[in-house]
Amino acid sequence: MTAAFVAAVAALVPLVQAMQPDAVPPLPAPMRPLQWGQINFLHTTDTHGWHAGHLQESQYSADWGDYVSFADHMRRHADEEGVDLLLVDTGDRVEGNGLYDASTPKGQYTYDIFKQQDIDIICSGNHELYQADTADREHHLTVPNFAGHYLASNLDYIDPVTGKQVPMSEQRYRTFQTKHQKLDVVAFGFLFNFTGNAKNSVVQPVQETVQEPWFQHAISKEPADLFVVVGHVGARMGELRAIYQAIRVVNPDTPIAIFAGHAHVRDAVHFDDRAVAIASGRYFETIGWMSVTGIEHGKAKDVQSAAPVKFARRYIDNNLLGLYYHSGTNATTFPTDHGQNVTATITAARADLDLETPYGCAPQNYWLQRRPYNHPSSVFSLLRKHVLPEAIVREDRADVPRMVIINTGAIRFDIFQGAFTRDTTYIVSPFISLVHYIPNVPYALARQVLTILNSQGPILSAMAAEAAIESTGSLSGAMDWREMGVPEQYSMSKDDNPISNHFNGDDTAYQKPLFGRKSAIASDDTNSDAYDDTARPPLVAGYTTWDDFGLDGDDAIHEPLPHFRLPNCIQADVNYPTATGEPETVDLVFFDFIQRFVLMALSYAERSIGAAAPDGTAYKHYTGADVETYLEDKFTDYFASWVKKNWGDECAK
Ligand SMILES: *[C@@H]1O[C@H](CO)[C@@H](O)[C@H](O)[C@H]1NC(C)=O
Ligand SMILES: *[C@@H]1O[C@H](CO)[C@@H](O)[C@H](O)[C@H]1NC(C)=O
Ligand SMILES: *[C@@H]1O[C@H](CO)[C@@H](O)[C@H](O)[C@H]1NC(C)=O
Repeated sequence: MTAAFVAAVAALVPLVQAMQPDAVPPLPAPMRPLQWGQINFLHTTDTHGWHAGHLQESQYSADWGDYVSFADHMRRHADEEGVDLLLVDTGDRVEGNGLYDASTPKGQYTYDIFKQQDIDIICSGNHELYQADTADREHHLTVPNFAGHYLASNLDYIDPVTGKQVPMSEQRYRTFQTKHQKLDVVAFGFLFNFTGNAKNSVVQPVQETVQEPWFQHAISKEPADLFVVVGHVGARMGELRAIYQAIRVVNPDTPIAIFAGHAHVRDAVHFDDRAVAIASGRYFETIGWMSVTGIEHGKAKDVQSAAPVKFARRYIDNNLLGLYYHSGTNATTFPTDHGQNVTATITAARADLDLETPYGCAPQNYWLQRRPYNHPSSVFSLLRKHVLPEAIVREDRADVPRMVIINTGAIRFDIFQGAFTRDTTYIVSPFISLVHYIPNVPYALARQVLTILNSQGPILSAMAAEAAIESTGSLSGAMDWREMGVPEQYSMSKDDNPISNHFNGDDTAYQKPLFGRKSAIASDDTNSDAYDDTARPPLVAGYTTWDDFGLDGDDAIHEPLPHFRLPNCIQADVNYPTATGEPETVDLVFFDFIQRFVLMALSYAERSIGAAAPDGTAYKHYTGADVETYLEDKFTDYFASWVKKNWGDECAK
């Protein structure tokens, strides 16, 4: 090797390391600047373990260490300008990436990595509560890591030793004065009316919390120049509106800055001229920005204020070029010691967890929502046609006709052409999905289950309410049917939702692309022949967000991407007789997560087709006692085995 060549290579290696060494570097894009105000916020939500960033996606490739560096520069800028900067996080930090899911116990590295960021207001998501051990770690690790900043307005924890119910965090709310502007802030941290939590936590319905004396005291007696509501609640969900209304009743003009999560979308909602919510996406793709200007200090609640309040919002693509741009730095000046340390810690954790271990090579891209669910490039077609029939097989019943039903929400992300690693298995299928079944269900009943599960609102809500009353005597344990689908669909208001009321067997609602929230951006992608992955420059395609303030929220100007709705569940039919296409009975196989819904659907089917079994006898009423384990391990393990077997073990370079 010549000296000149060595020098040339060395010049390409950055002197200081930011982002993960294997991550794809970002491409430049036309940018919109941040609009600094009197008080400014950086918002993360639904990071789901993606603290290493997106190694395969250049525009989201910065990591948590880079965010630590970025926040330091932004704080310094705020100090110089005499304005305030606050960081908020609205939960679902866990489940969804090998960095969290691949260790035993889970999150062995992520709690320490996450706590390196100085966050001013933080709350829990639903994913911190599904498994009892996750809720334990939340109480014993995250809450002390963010002592005084972790707000649990409607969330309690049950101590396993004493059995006592205590607030998840001592703070139901927080009052403080900002550093420079000396504004009095009253902050809350909420979770939506979640009912799927493990038994060691208690979620109080939001509408009850806002009646609590402590809440009424906080909104009427504490000095407040600004209310800050952070919530693991979709920006358009009813719970958030209930909180807003409760505050507004007593505070007709105090500004309210609201930070929403859960729905995995970029969105901003205009509640009124002095109250705005922002939702900042998912998976650490987005760092949300909000600024508020025109806040007056020490206004009495009954003094009508004339001064207008100005809100601004921005959705920052999480990549180094954008972070340099917004912080006025470059590759040399950007990384701080602390940020680099965090980056190095993440690299070491990934190595320790063998996340780069290849399981196979995906022959093409398979999309979660960029294609219709039945398109050949949909991850759900891959599951329906191959993975479910070939990987979900019980040896002793391999030849029995079976119907495999899984909820689309169990699958979380796209599969990119190329290396499919240990990390990818957790990215695509992070949850502990166990495979259950009911043997020998009459096909006439079983065939109705999918249609019922995909019928959306009214039938499912009614069934869930009925089942809850049957088992607990009250509505409060009713499972929310929306949990079967992907969280992205929580974002839709009724008007936006083309299938909010009925699924009439006609599938067209799933075939129409949506661009942003209102499907209004013209693009040749609407011509279905144009869905050719090679037809577009690979980047910079990305979010083009249409929120209540228009189309200019994204920091980078993107080529818009289409987005398709998904049904709640999909089904694979296996071993059906070729002659008739209709077996007499099937093994009805499903994930444990949707067991209650499958049983409800069977019961609904049984009643709706009456006692008309072919032999004249009544159909059986199925209950939990009829459900058996189909396979011993988790779905993720069978999926990984399928990849190893079918996609070879190495990508040809
Ligand atoms: C939250 O739960 C309460 C109590 O069960 C219920 O009255 C309310 O309608 C729920 N709110 C939403 C938006 O679902
Ligand atoms: C980064 O900025 C510093 C200070 O402005 C400058 O000295 C340095 O040359 C820049 N580095 C690069 C890689 O542009
Ligand atoms: C970075 O890590 C080193 C070694 O662990 C430690 O000595 C140093 O204090 C850390 N620096 C910062 C700014 O965190």
